[in-house]
Amino acid sequence: MGACGPTAALLLSLLAASLATSSSSDSRPGTAAQPELRDEDFVVAISSASSRLVLAQSTRAYRAGMRTLIMTSNASEVPSLNKVYGKYNEVYEHHPDETDPDPKNWHAKFPGDFRAAVAPFAAHRQYGDGYKWLLYGDDDTIFFLPGLRRLLSGFDPELPLALTDNLWYGSGHPRLEAYRCLPCGFNDSALPAAQTNLSYTPRAACPYCTRAAACPPAEPECTITGAHGGAGMVFSVGLMRRMPYDAALSCMNGIFHCSGGDCLVSQCIWKAGLGFTDPGHSLLHDNPLAHVLFDNMEARFFLKNPIDQLVLGNCDADCRSAIRHAVSFHLRGKSFSSFGKAAAAMFGLAESHAAAIEFLALLADKASRAYRVAAVRKKEL
Ligand SMILES: *[C@@H]1O[C@H](CO)[C@@H](O)[C@H](O)[C@H]1NC(C)=O
Ligand SMILES: *[C@@H]1O[C@H](CO)[C@@H](O)[C@H](O)[C@H]1NC(C)=O
Ligand SMILES: *[C@@H]1O[C@H](CO)[C@@H](O)[C@H](O)[C@H]1NC(C)=O
Repeated sequence: MGACGPTAALLLSLLAASLATSSSSDSRPGTAAQPELRDEDFVVAISSASSRLVLAQSTRAYRAGMRTLIMTSNASEVPSLNKVYGKYNEVYEHHPDETDPDPKNWHAKFPGDFRAAVAPFAAHRQYGDGYKWLLYGDDDTIFFLPGLRRLLSGFDPELPLALTDNLWYGSGHPRLEAYRCLPCGFNDSALPAAQTNLSYTPRAACPYCTRAAACPPAEPECTITGAHGGAGMVFSVGLMRRMPYDAALSCMNGIFHCSGGDCLVSQCIWKAGLGFTDPGHSLLHDNPLAHVLFDNMEARFFLKNPIDQLVLGNCDADCRSAIRHAVSFHLRGKSFSSFGKAAAAMFGLAESHAAAIEFLALLADKASRAYRVAAVRKKEL
């Protein structure tokens, strides 16, 4: 994929020096501003398999400097992986595929799903609680740090929080019908018709989301739905402390036929009495699904290569807003002709998105832009 074309690269290198960084952030009443997050404040948990490790490793495109636990399927390769890749702050662990010959006895749909569900709890066990936020996604999920930092600036990691706005309902995601909470302090009296026209309307929960706060008032033990694993989830250290490894595994071992690893993790969050918090950003708009932060399906067309659309002038206000706020993107490794190509696309997307953020700042900085264009022309003469 031609992530950052020569024109864009040239333009950006000529103009990079004058870029102003965007300082706007979402402020909500009731949320104290959090100190700026450092790389050490993040831990990443990824589940993969021997055949897909190149993908898991390509997520280095966004997580340089962060501690990462990668869960793989082959025990005998783990020692050498740890030796070779420790320098990237990676720790490898092994969890086997489910081996029972009868799929009826499996905890989830595919034999590798249980491994995916173990990853976040193994990461917390590995790293202890000296971090603030745990990023949990598939091996083909990319997190965009500018949007992620903007999102997390309003949340206290000491509270037990599970964040995403890409939740399953029935067989679809993201769905506005999914049971969830809005952040403490969110003004839920001004939700768009697209949300309030449904039989379920989420409520702001203080200080954090419990199962009862997410369920409809008339149905406090409501049937649960969960987050989409490919879109990724963000867990606070406060949440992970409440779900130690052994307790989480015994919870998941008691569940059968879940739809995936994301289902097992979500179910156990609910069983711990907690619920998912939707940051609510999409609900500030009349067309919420166009403003989802975690793997925005309606924005895939430009989020898969944002700098290209920006340079071509194909990016309207919604598109620019989606690029600025995007928190994650599910690359879908299987849709490429090889995992190697998908891994290359991961690096390309990280570069393309970073360039797009810089380009947006450049476009906003009209005074400097006029100066730069003049300077460039003069040089050419
Ligand atoms: C597991 O890894 C070892 C060491 O790299 C390798 O020799 C073996 O073939 C692998 N097994 C499978 C099933 O991939
Ligand atoms: C919340 O939204 C409602 C409806 O738009 C508005 O009337 C009210 O003033 C808002 N409350 C706050 C605290 O902003
Ligand atoms: C609300 O839902 C009804 C029934 O599904 C539909 O006919 C109507 O157009 C919806 N209104 C809005 C504002 O979305």
